[in-house]
Amino acid sequence: MGIFEDNKQLEDLDKKYIWHPFTQMRDWLGQKPIIISEGRDCFIKDIYGRWYLDGVSSLWVNIFGHRKKEIDDAIKEQLDNIAHSTLLGLGNVPAIKLAEKLVQIVQKSEDKSQKENPPTPPLEKGGKGGLCKVFYSDNGSTAVEVALKMAFQYWKHRGVDGRNTFVSLNNAYHGDTLGAVSVGGVDIFHKAFGPLLFKTCKSPSPYCYRCELKKKYPDCKLACLDKLEEIFKASSNEIAAMIIEPLIQAAGGMITSPQGYLKGVRELCTKYKILLIADEVATGFGRTGKMFACEHEDVIPDIMCLSKGITGGYMALAVTLATDEIYNAFLGEFKNLKTFFHGHSYTGNPLACAAALASLDLFGKEQVLEHLKGKIEILEAWLKDVLVLQHVGDVRNAGMIAGVELVSDKKTKEPYDWAEKMGWQVAYHAMENGVFIRPLGNVIVIMPPLSISEQNLIQLLKVIKDSIAVVTGN
Ligand SMILES: Cc1ncc(COP(=O)(O)O)c(C=O)c1O
Repeated sequence: MGIFEDNKQLEDLDKKYIWHPFTQMRDWLGQKPIIISEGRDCFIKDIYGRWYLDGVSSLWVNIFGHRKKEIDDAIKEQLDNIAHSTLLGLGNVPAIKLAEKLVQIVQKSEDKSQKENPPTPPLEKGGKGGLCKVFYSDNGSTAVEVALKMAFQYWKHRGVDGRNTFVSLNNAYHGDTLGAVSVGGVDIFHKAFGPLLFKTCKSPSPYCYRCELKKKYPDCKLACLDKLEEIFKASSNEIAAMIIEPLIQAAGGMITSPQGYLKGVRELCTKYKILLIADEVATGFGRTGKMFACEHEDVIPDIMCLSKGITGGYMALAVTLATDEIYNAFLGEFKNLKTFFHGHSYTGNPLACAAALASLDLFGKEQVLEHLKGKIEILEAWLKDVLVLQHVGDVRNAGMIAGVELVSDKKTKEPYDWAEKMGWQVAYHAMENGVFIRPLGNVIVIMPPLSISEQNLIQLLKVIKDSIAVVTGN
């Protein structure tokens, strides 16, 4: 069979057997699918040998590009020892080393924030403070499930009853498992599951372009925080924790929060003795220009969720970090059932932990964060430039995460009808021109691997701008 017959067969088999996530399969069945067979640096190659710039880091995970030698080698080396053993009742070498390294990195970033940051409720109770315990799982959603269950049970173990709910934001996205969906706020994804979800309180999204409170920043003086305080005031005794995507609500449409918002949330959580869960699944590991988004506003959360970039984008791994105070609340007599009854089969997988260790080493060796400054400047200059286009309503970024919001009418901010698939049309055009991107409705997402060269970044942005202009007719 020739290469083209083989490829055709792969396409047919994909359509016959695979149910793709977040994909209308009827559309998929009517299209010629792109099937990836190889990757190098910031490029991915399809089975016909066409290369695409990976404009969304293989769904926001890739940091150093594909086939990064150091990460490849670390996985191969670990494979010669063992691929997997369980963390339920056993330890494993890479998981231990990685936990130590993660705590060191997180605490280094906390040290900078410590002076600025008011004590958290656990600290007031005399706990040591700081994120120092690592609970492994294997994707962003499970990291969030773990965080929610930990926060909920923490209060129970401290003998505090009634804190049975969570506060989250409109437009929040924390994953697809039902706990994560309960604290989610993107109607298109989440509404259908309403009857299955636990009750949460939703606070306004800090979405300045479409302010729910019809105010304008900075004159608003962060009125969305006043709304949050109203919720806290009314029901602080019922709230176990507030969960937030620090600095940018990613899947909700790359919605960046105005300066001071995140810090304000931390202060309110402290004031009302509510735990703060920072979901850094999308923002962690350098995406925003600092190792963690919380650093931008000197915020130390009580619990932090990390995944995606943790392995450099190689393997499924996640962690939920907690303070000593939270961890200690789970200690007790075996018979008292204070044990945290949660764990997944592939928790702390040694291959994934080895990849993560290699990836974290590269941050130091390649001075990734230092090299981002110039790229962020290029991206921000480009965003200013595309804002001039007739159907670009708003542009937003937090470091190397950016969104371009397309509108049908710039004056009225009228969005394109969802059914028009305008974001997708732009993405298809970009794909025809060698760039892979995946939109969020009308928002074009730009989130390349952090290692992308300036030259490739400029090429990526050029294709996206051209695609927007062609598809929107300007
Ligand atoms: C902030 C945030 N939390 C959680 C998740 C869920 O992660 P996963 O897709 O690995 O379950 C995502 C995924 O995009 C995310 O952006």
